Amino acid sequence: MSSSNTELRQRQADFTKTLHGEEIGAKTGLSALLSKDKTAQKIAVSTYLENFQNNKESEAKRLENYNETTHSYYNIVTDFYEYGWGSSFHFSRFYKGESFAASIARHEHYLAYMAGIKKSDLVLDVGCGVGGPAREIANFTGCHIVGLNNNDYQIEKANWVAKKTGLDKQLEFVKGDFMDLNGTFEENTFDKVYAIEATCHAPNLEKCYKEIYKVLKPGGTFAVYEWVMTDKFDENNEEHKKIRYEIELGDGIPKMFGVDVATQALKNCGFEIEVANDLADNNDEVPWYYPLTGEWRYVQSLSDLATFFRTSYLGRKVTNTMVSVMERVGIAPEGSVKVTEALENAAVGLVAGGKSKLFTPMMLFVAKKPEQPSQ
Ligand SMILES: C[S@@+](CC[C@H](N)C(=O)[O-])C[C@H]1O[C@@H](n2cnc3c(N)ncnc32)[C@H](O)[C@@H]1O
Repeated sequence: MSSSNTELRQRQADFTKTLHGEEIGAKTGLSALLSKDKTAQKIAVSTYLENFQNNKESEAKRLENYNETTHSYYNIVTDFYEYGWGSSFHFSRFYKGESFAASIARHEHYLAYMAGIKKSDLVLDVGCGVGGPAREIANFTGCHIVGLNNNDYQIEKANWVAKKTGLDKQLEFVKGDFMDLNGTFEENTFDKVYAIEATCHAPNLEKCYKEIYKVLKPGGTFAVYEWVMTDKFDENNEEHKKIRYEIELGDGIPKMFGVDVATQALKNCGFEIEVANDLADNNDEVPWYYPLTGEWRYVQSLSDLATFFRTSYLGRKVTNTMVSVMERVGIAPEGSVKVTEALENAAVGLVAGGKSKLFTPMMLFVAKKPEQPSQ
């Protein structure tokens, strides 16, 4: 590992301790939010936001500083995500009548099924969040999963829950950058690799997929739910670009790429694409973005009312007001309101992108590394 990478890791690890304190695993949601170091939180928010202006210069900075930008983003939003959404930080399709939790789990099972994960497999989860999907897939298949993440806070949480739930023999979560997987793992290590709504944080998809290709065994499978702009997106349309920028700003994404870029990137790496299917383009009666819309008619189960309220437009307004009051009286750290505002931007952009089908968070690719790779 280069000395600048070692220095970056140490700085991020130290900052995590200062910002989130001790006993990270035991705290979630609002209790975690309220126990942050206030000065460090202010720094995390400004580190994140300083790279977000809606212009090319700022985009270039985000691409260069992708690691710090997303590290800061997840330092400030993880508690909000856990509070509002749960421990799997992704979208899913909904059957009529299906609960939120069942749909989230089914989305994970489906990816495991499409990747062909077996009990004997050693699997890499690229950009593993706080470990929700890895726990589900480990339970579902019996396989062994290594979760990789560049966010120390999330890694500590994921390892804590794995231990608490007795899954630590099947699961381990490690620090690493998916733009340099080979710096963490040997080549040809994993039987399967999957990524759920994570590689959209890469500054360059081809370089990221190339790293995945390297650590995958020959004949192994990579399955991903990718965030991309669809081929309906028009680079010359200001409204389209506004939607894309809202998603980038609110979701910690240096630059959102198009489905054509992702497809070509996989091919350029030497992957054989077996499946390329936009799961958001199925005219589902209950759309994937429904939890963000505030449209009560979509709520599928009574047990979802609390989740739906927190993630809906009205619920978000209540949270924003509550956080704003807490920040003003000094209970919540400075910058908390800016975070809720960025998340609000994200929700607006995601719903607009989903309704217009300009954007999908579930472009499913299943790609194989050939048995005899040419490169
Ligand atoms: C939207 S979350 C999805 C997390 C997880 N896959 C899930 O579905 O719950 C994106 C994840 O990618 C991770 N990530 C972002 N940039 C990364 C990088 N350069 N290297 C490793 N992980 C990264 C974030 O820390 C976060 O955990």
